[in-house]
Amino acid sequence: MKPQNLNTKIFLDGGDPKETEEIKTLLGFLDGQTTNPSLVVKNPEISTKVEQGQKFTSEELLDAYKEIITKLSETLPEGSISIEVYSDHETTAEQMLSQAKEMNEWIPNAHIKYPTTFEGLKAAEQSISLGIKVNMTLVFSQSQAAAVYAATRGGRRGDVFISPFIGRLDDKGENGMQLIENIKKMYSSGDGHMEILAASARNTNHIMGAIKAGADILTLPGKVIRAWVDEGMKLPDESFMYPKAELKDIPYQELDLEKTWQEFDLRHDLTDAGLEKFASDWNALIK
Ligand code: E4P
Repeated sequence: MKPQNLNTKIFLDGGDPKETEEIKTLLGFLDGQTTNPSLVVKNPEISTKVEQGQKFTSEELLDAYKEIITKLSETLPEGSISIEVYSDHETTAEQMLSQAKEMNEWIPNAHIKYPTTFEGLKAAEQSISLGIKVNMTLVFSQSQAAAVYAATRGGRRGDVFISPFIGRLDDKGENGMQLIENIKKMYSSGDGHMEILAASARNTNHIMGAIKAGADILTLPGKVIRAWVDEGMKLPDESFMYPKAELKDIPYQELDLEKTWQEFDLRHDLTDAGLEKFASDWNALIK
């Protein structure tokens, strides 16, 4: 059962519909699911075929993704399911939007994931005007978050998720949780249309920290959910202090949300690296 005082939605981060059923049963609820290309290629049925030496055409791989997403939506009909477009450094906004239109037809409860790059934001801006819900991924800076806000202005609450990646910042020695806190603070003076989806969570401290920071949604790998359940699904109380360990501070920046999205600095090395990894994991399976 969902703890009464838990206001953060809990999503599963994965690509295996059987795990989704298992986690839904284990928790007694599940508010949604996020997927990405690296997670989809790890789906057990796809992995078995890969181990047998099989490769896929682009169409076959996309069909397999559709099948996974359809099953996830059947298990979580009231939830949100994030589907990520294929993109690399060459992919244009038009190409992303065309994929989004197709993917959005797969299920009635989709959020389309775009990278937080110039082309991704262009596609997101158009998606909002077309009524396609979005989840902006690979977010590593407050400036990118300001750009997402500005590009999706006019969207209603529920239309736009932003996914800052806690764990990948931690891996680089920076305190990823502070990015969540900074974005939350910046958006508090906005129009309320954005929902912060804390992503790249690695442990139960990330759960406690993200809930304390007021993340609207938290996506968690199955093994982190199982660890949380083993620890009694603890929630942070007033005295909870997020352990910063040796991580470098990410200072808050004063940014003007009224600017146009093109005025914000979108560059981040981790966004570039993340884009490349998603594309190479996907392409590795194609004939
Ligand atoms: C989910 O939307 C993200 O793609 C995912 O949380 C990334 O997690 P990772 O940094 O562990 O790959």
